[in-house]
Amino acid sequence: MLVSVVSLKGAPGVTTFALGLAACWPTAVRRLLIEADPSGGDVATRFGLAPSGLVGLAAAARAGADPALPWAHAATLPGDLGVVAAPPDADAARATLAALPPGSVRMAADQPGSVVVLDCGRVDADSPAMPLIGSSDAMVLITGSRADELAHLAPRLATIARWSPRPLLLLAGEGYPVDEVERTLSVPPLGHIPDDEVGAALFCGRPVPRWRARREPNRTALGRFAHNVALVLRSALPIAPLSVPLQMAGSVPGLPPRLISASGMRPAPAEMGAAS
Ligand SMILES: Nc1ncnc2c1ncn2[C@@H]1O[C@H](COP(=O)(O)OP(=O)(O)OP(=O)(O)O)[C@@H](O)[C@H]1O
Ligand SMILES: [Mg+2]
Repeated sequence: MLVSVVSLKGAPGVTTFALGLAACWPTAVRRLLIEADPSGGDVATRFGLAPSGLVGLAAAARAGADPALPWAHAATLPGDLGVVAAPPDADAARATLAALPPGSVRMAADQPGSVVVLDCGRVDADSPAMPLIGSSDAMVLITGSRADELAHLAPRLATIARWSPRPLLLLAGEGYPVDEVERTLSVPPLGHIPDDEVGAALFCGRPVPRWRARREPNRTALGRFAHNVALVLRSALPIAPLSVPLQMAGSVPGLPPRLISASGMRPAPAEMGAAS
């Protein structure tokens, strides 16, 4: 499976969530995060990794297609999470992305038991990450939920919906709740990413104080939320927005009926497109 995570404006937490999504993906799969942000990468700096992963991948992939290549250019973070880091420099990142054949990433994601999450950063139609987004199985768009942030999103929804066969919307930060955003945009956000200092620190490579008990990714609010988004993506089961009390691992297949909204998850292009 190939999942792109994107934003339109601001810094609503794309890199943090993308890493959390890959880290908290239901087990028994090989998980890989690829930084495909044309503004330059952050993961190498945050985790002390070599920033040359994406550069090496692009060069090797141009020489020949091989589904093992993305993994061969990944560093490994704790929890066996593979990470292909982009160079922090925006010019270098853009040039690298422009040179990366999207098929090389798609091939890796198509390997049995594999999931590849792409941090595509802030995107527009001219983004060099657009071919990767277009070849993804799903695109998770994260937006801030204040009025000014939603005002940027509303007029572009119909266009954005065409970028991916399965566009999903997540809210972040303080602002309007899921139900009000749904009423206003006529698009149901899948959920509201919790504001979680500890989870964000874990997924950004910052130290978490010893006295904070919840230091394992899956035990943080952000990790549990990411895990549940992963379950939705994996199962494509219709479930209620994730801002309602979170369901823990393993509970999504065969969800209690009370968690299944009357109209279902309504995640897909038809819905976002319906806003046009
Ligand atoms: N759910 C969250 N709760 C609390 N803090 C968060 C959360 N998500 C992200 N942050 C914090 O917000 C800051 C920005 O996050 P991040 O780098 O993921 O944003 P971004 O959308 O990738 O930004 P950019 O567009 O610049 O790449 C980081 O310091 C991160 O720790
Ligand atoms: Mg980022």
